[in-house]
Amino acid sequence: IPAEPPKIISAKMLAESASLTSAIPSAYYFSEDSYELADPNDPEFQLPTIDFSLLTSDSPDQRSKMLHELANICRDWGCFLVTNHGVTESLKQAMIEAADRFFNLTEEEKHNIAKKYEADPTQIRYGTSYNARSEKVRLWRDFIKLRLHPDFPTLNENDGYSEVAMKYSKKTREIATELVEAISESLGLDPNYIYKALDLDSGVQFLLANYYPPCPQPELAMGLSHHTDQCLITILTDNDVSGLQVLHNHKWVTVTSTPKTFLVILADQMQIVTNGKYKSAMHRGRVNKEAKRISLASLHGPSFETLVTPSPVLVEREGKAPLYRSIKYREYVELQHRSRMDLKCALD
Ligand code: SIN
Ligand code: FE2
Repeated sequence: IPAEPPKIISAKMLAESASLTSAIPSAYYFSEDSYELADPNDPEFQLPTIDFSLLTSDSPDQRSKMLHELANICRDWGCFLVTNHGVTESLKQAMIEAADRFFNLTEEEKHNIAKKYEADPTQIRYGTSYNARSEKVRLWRDFIKLRLHPDFPTLNENDGYSEVAMKYSKKTREIATELVEAISESLGLDPNYIYKALDLDSGVQFLLANYYPPCPQPELAMGLSHHTDQCLITILTDNDVSGLQVLHNHKWVTVTSTPKTFLVILADQMQIVTNGKYKSAMHRGRVNKEAKRISLASLHGPSFETLVTPSPVLVEREGKAPLYRSIKYREYVELQHRSRMDLKCALD
């Protein structure tokens, strides 16, 4: 008789359990810090903002000014805030509420939904930590990850999750496409270059909802340990509870969550295709004592079969050797999965 795998307790269940009054289990003690926090008043560490409406402006002067700014930001930060992106607060709220309803289901219900897709966990994954079965130190976080492009599974017909996820993801997909075009152009490439080279028409898109319950000892625990995203570009928002930090000039910058504002994070495939000119931004999620935090990451990448290569034009223009070998996205994801176990990045 095969042994039952040990039951893995979600962070939410743990946070709610009566025994947990003021101390978290030592399995959640996290020590990773080699970087200091940036001083929030230091001008060097003010996270830049891009006004999306100006970026998509009809005025060529306005656009070229924005592209110049975008180029500097992508090179120096690899992430930025975006305002005037056109996604309504009501749609964002509806998505946050749908995620909240999902996490409020019983553990059995949540696992049963994910179980329907066991044969292909790239469609739906529900879990806790990053990978609770293989990790030594647990993360104070539960998540549901849903694939929404090119095809999409139905999570649960009754609670409307998939429906609102579909609507929300369509909007973020439009924004991602515009940004990828602008980023391409900001490099002096054809605006369609990255979109075409990575065949984003058939690219994969995921919606990752993260749930970080209030934590009695937030300074000891970690919501999500430092990482870069493996896709091309990520569009992030949350329930206006701060917790995300990005690494800039060797210091952690805390992102203040603001209504109507998205955070855009460039990811590993962007660093590869730009031959390192633009950076995949390192980030992590902290937790707090008072409020649960729900974040929504819209992850955009090439299809798993796409071969990603540093742009030959950029390589030639800079007279440098390619910094990365060509690699199929599927292979990259597998490589990254293995490196992540040692908290390393596959880019290295
Ligand atoms: C993520 O990196 O996937 C999410 C981070 C966050 O919760 O803001
Ligand atoms: Fe991330």
